[in-house]
Amino acid sequence: MQTIHWGELTPEQFLKEYWQKKPLLIKGAFKDFTDPIDANELAGLAMESEIESRIIANKNNQWQVEQGPFESFDKFGENNWTLLVQAVNNWSRDTQALLTAVSFIPQWRIDDVMVSFSTPNGGVGAHLDQYDVFIIQGEGKRRWQVGAPDSSLEELLPHPDLKQVSDFVAVIDEITEAGDLLYIPPNHPHNGISIENSINFSIGFQAPNNQELWSSFADKLIDEDLGEQRFPDNDRSLTTQPQLLEQSDIAKLKLFMQQQLEDDSLFTPFIGKYLTLNHHALEILMPVSPITEGRLDDILAESENTLVPVSGIKSLIIENKPHQASFLYINGESFLIDKETMELATYLTKPHTLTTKQVKSLMTCLKNKQLLTNVLNMGFWYVA
Ligand code: SIN
Ligand code: CO
Repeated sequence: MQTIHWGELTPEQFLKEYWQKKPLLIKGAFKDFTDPIDANELAGLAMESEIESRIIANKNNQWQVEQGPFESFDKFGENNWTLLVQAVNNWSRDTQALLTAVSFIPQWRIDDVMVSFSTPNGGVGAHLDQYDVFIIQGEGKRRWQVGAPDSSLEELLPHPDLKQVSDFVAVIDEITEAGDLLYIPPNHPHNGISIENSINFSIGFQAPNNQELWSSFADKLIDEDLGEQRFPDNDRSLTTQPQLLEQSDIAKLKLFMQQQLEDDSLFTPFIGKYLTLNHHALEILMPVSPITEGRLDDILAESENTLVPVSGIKSLIIENKPHQASFLYINGESFLIDKETMELATYLTKPHTLTTKQVKSLMTCLKNKQLLTNVLNMGFWYVA
């Protein structure tokens, strides 16, 4: 369990004063911080084809970008480069555990933990990200500079795959050491230059934009043959100006579209699925043969068995409004839940392993048994 030592600050104050507003460096935020993954293990992940990785190097003032998977790192030498690996939390349970540090923000906002290994003088250059990020300094030291949003900054493209910005005025300029935590709001220029071999853990947040939301919602309507009804106007009155699209008709057309968003039977499954679909590959472990409720009893009878969630899998619960159903969403799939299944559903949204003892007492309720077998059969949790 990772906890942030906030010093003078509280998480409430952080949200009020810094979140999406101002960058912040908390020195010694994690006491005795130990890296959940080391440089060798990270290099191993960067050799896998389903894991997204890249190396950014700056040799003789020439920026180079190479996409993984990598077979060897020898040619990059001893300095001036950074290896970045996306969604390391999908492959490293200890890296996933870092996310408990930010549980004061709903988990649906979290995207992934990107891990970078930088050699001396390595970095990706000054740039902007559109998302909030918490950067934890692991092994080694790095100089981090962060500025305020500035519309006069020039966009630079020193390589077709590398967006940077021109020099900025730093409001934070510090050397980070193991256990330091840097928070960078969206669109704040920043630059981290490694002083020695160093590892950074970046908790990135997801914030869909309207383009993504509207186009995914339209995809849902198309895929499920929904929204095919035509614009109705059975209350139409006579017009003397047929060339006009009247404001009253614009309002009706708008309402016609809005009704789709307002329809919870459409929007709830859409948003639950959208926010729990992973943006990176996951290690889904389907059972060799389907688990029946009888087989589940046998599994739970063996006290050494444990139930384990797929690392990095996204989940959330949407609680019911009056007279509506509640749902558990895991990796884009929905499970109907109610008062009796809420405790199990809550367990199923946590990244922690469950013992048979924790689960067995809940199995007297048939609905819990069905929920657990469904989740196991989809490979979102597995027996170990
Ligand atoms: C890095 O760790 O090198 C890059 C992190 C970032 O700037 O977003
Ligand atoms: Co960045």
